[in-house]
Amino acid sequence: MAEQKKILLSGVKPTGRPHIGNYFGAMKQFVDLQDSYHTYVMVADYHALTSVQNKEDMKSLTHDLILDYLAIGLDPEKVILFRQSDIGVHTELAWIFDCITTMPYLMRAHAFKDGEAKNKEINVGVFNYPMLMAADILLYDAEVVPVGRDQKQHIEYARDTAQKFNNLFGETFTLPQDLIIEDVETVPGTDGQKMSKSYNNTIPLFCSDEELEKAVMSIVTDSSGELPKNVYAIHKLLRKEEELRRIYEEKKGKYKELKEMLLDDIKKIVVPMRARREEFEKDPERVKKILEDGAARAKAVALAKMKLVRETIGL
Ligand code: ADP
Ligand code: TRP
Repeated sequence: MAEQKKILLSGVKPTGRPHIGNYFGAMKQFVDLQDSYHTYVMVADYHALTSVQNKEDMKSLTHDLILDYLAIGLDPEKVILFRQSDIGVHTELAWIFDCITTMPYLMRAHAFKDGEAKNKEINVGVFNYPMLMAADILLYDAEVVPVGRDQKQHIEYARDTAQKFNNLFGETFTLPQDLIIEDVETVPGTDGQKMSKSYNNTIPLFCSDEELEKAVMSIVTDSSGELPKNVYAIHKLLRKEEELRRIYEEKKGKYKELKEMLLDDIKKIVVPMRARREEFEKDPERVKKILEDGAARAKAVALAKMKLVRETIGL
C-alpha cells in the first residue's frame, strides 16, 4: 500500500548556485529516495532571509533553485515540492518552539558559535534557525531527513525539540532521524577544504562548459602522495572505486589527463540535467503550477498538524 511509505522531508536554502557538493551530499538523495518515501522537498526561503536581503535576489535565487530541483530529476508527480514561505505556519510553530527552548541550548549551535568566534553581527534569525528547521521537519511528521554532514546537529535539535514538546504537552511529534550517506558526507572543493559557496572553491552543478572546465582544472594537486587526492576524492563520487584505482594507477602522475577524465565524467551527468533545466525554464506556467500544487498539498498537512498543536497547548 502506497500510504505505508515513511515520510521524508528535506530542503535547501536559495542562497546561490548549487555545486556538486550540494548535489552529491544532499540533493541527489532526494531524487534517489523519491520512490521509496512519501517525500517533501522544500525551498527554504525563510531560512535564506537570514542572509539574502534583497527582493530581486530572493526572487531569482528561489526560482533558480526550483528549476535545479526539477532538473536533477525530482518528479513533481511523486514529490511534494514547495516553497517554505507559502506555508506560513512554519514560523508560527518556530515561535512555539522558541518558547520552550533555552538560550544556552541554542548557543551551542555550530553556526551561532562560528559567527561568535568570527565576531560577526548575528541576527536573531541565525540564532533561532534551528527552531525554524525543527518546525519544517516536525510539521510533516517527517521520519527521515537526508542532509549533508554539516546539518547533522540541526536534526538533533529537531529531535530534542520534539521530545521536549512531547514531554511537556503529551505525544504530538514524531522523532526524526538524519540520513547521511557516508561516502559523500563531505565533498571536498577545488582546494581540498569542504566544498562551499562561502569558500570560493566550488564546481557548480549548472554552468557553461568553459566554467566547468576552469573549475576542474583548478583542483589543487599535491604530488607528495600516491594519487592526486583532491581529484580522486571528487572522482570517486562518479565511478566505482576499484575501477578508479586501476585508472589512477595506470595514469600515475598524469594529472592533466586525470582531470580531463573527471571533467568528462561530470559532463555525462550534468548535460542531461542542463537540458531538462532548459525545458522547465522555457515553461514558467508549468513551474508555477507545480509550486501551487505543492503548496496546496503541503498546506493541507501542515494546517491540520498546527490545529492539533494549538489544541494541545491550549491556544
Ligand atoms: P554551502 O556550504 O555551499 O553554503 P549549504 O549550506 O547551502 O551549502 O548546503 C546545502 C546542502 O548541501 C546541505 O544539506 C549540506 O549538508 C549539503 N552540502 C553542502 N556542502 C557540502 C559538501 N561539500 N559535501 C557534502 N554535502 C554538502
Ligand atoms: N538548513 C538546511 C541547509 O542549510 C536547509 C533546511 C531548511 C533544511 N529546513 C530544512 C534541511 C529542513 C532539511 C530539513 O542546508
